[in-house]
Amino acid sequence: MYIWKKIKITNFSAPGFARSDKMQYYNYDKEECDFTSLFEALFSTKNLDTISEMYDVKYERFNIPGRDSETLYHKIFYDKMRSGWPEFISTYEKFIVKNIFPLLRNPSKLIVQKWPSFRIHLPGNLAVAGFHRDCDYNHPEKEINFISPITKRYESNSTIIEQNIGKLDFEQITAEPGQFIRFNGNKLLHGNLPNTTGKSRISFDFRVLRKEDYDASHNKTSLSKNSKFLIGHYYKILKREWIMQITISFVQCMVKV
Ligand SMILES: [Fe+2]
Repeated sequence: MYIWKKIKITNFSAPGFARSDKMQYYNYDKEECDFTSLFEALFSTKNLDTISEMYDVKYERFNIPGRDSETLYHKIFYDKMRSGWPEFISTYEKFIVKNIFPLLRNPSKLIVQKWPSFRIHLPGNLAVAGFHRDCDYNHPEKEINFISPITKRYESNSTIIEQNIGKLDFEQITAEPGQFIRFNGNKLLHGNLPNTTGKSRISFDFRVLRKEDYDASHNKTSLSKNSKFLIGHYYKILKREWIMQITISFVQCMVKV
């Protein structure tokens, strides 16, 4: 059995933070990037952590990678994305431009996961079947992983992440909406345990690549969705100029007020 300790939550937001394999915690302005309201509207509830009580569906313990992302909740999320959900996309991209670019020394552009991965950790179940490293699933090795909770993550409804590659020195994420976590999911073993908290955990996660780390010849595909890890498929490009555009828009709004 793994023994893990609660980790200290840090609020480190200075630009250009050194590259690290260990997970790092950051805060963001959750009113400026209001994911909570978007998910509450999507699922028609203010009580996202008891969402499983709203739907008459039960799932056996997920034990096959991929099956864990075929729930009714995933269908609701991805159907909405496929139908066009500009409010979510603009919030997601604003979040990256305002929070992830500064962490990576404000590059001119970043290669980012086009749509984040939706996760739900239902009571009695797993969010992701099996401990793994993302490289096991063909992800490019230079990806940088980020996780952001929509509901509180604590105890067994959270993710457990190795702190040093190959050391099996796991720590568990404890985080709330308004925080996000960076870690090297490509090389650090991670997964979760059956959720015994009685509360569902909803979160999203995504990967980014520095432009110089992008490999246009990477010809492996994701195991679960058979998606190519290429721009126009799994990824899209976000440009730094967006920071200026968002700032100008914000200033214009303030002037009108
Ligand atoms: Fe993963």
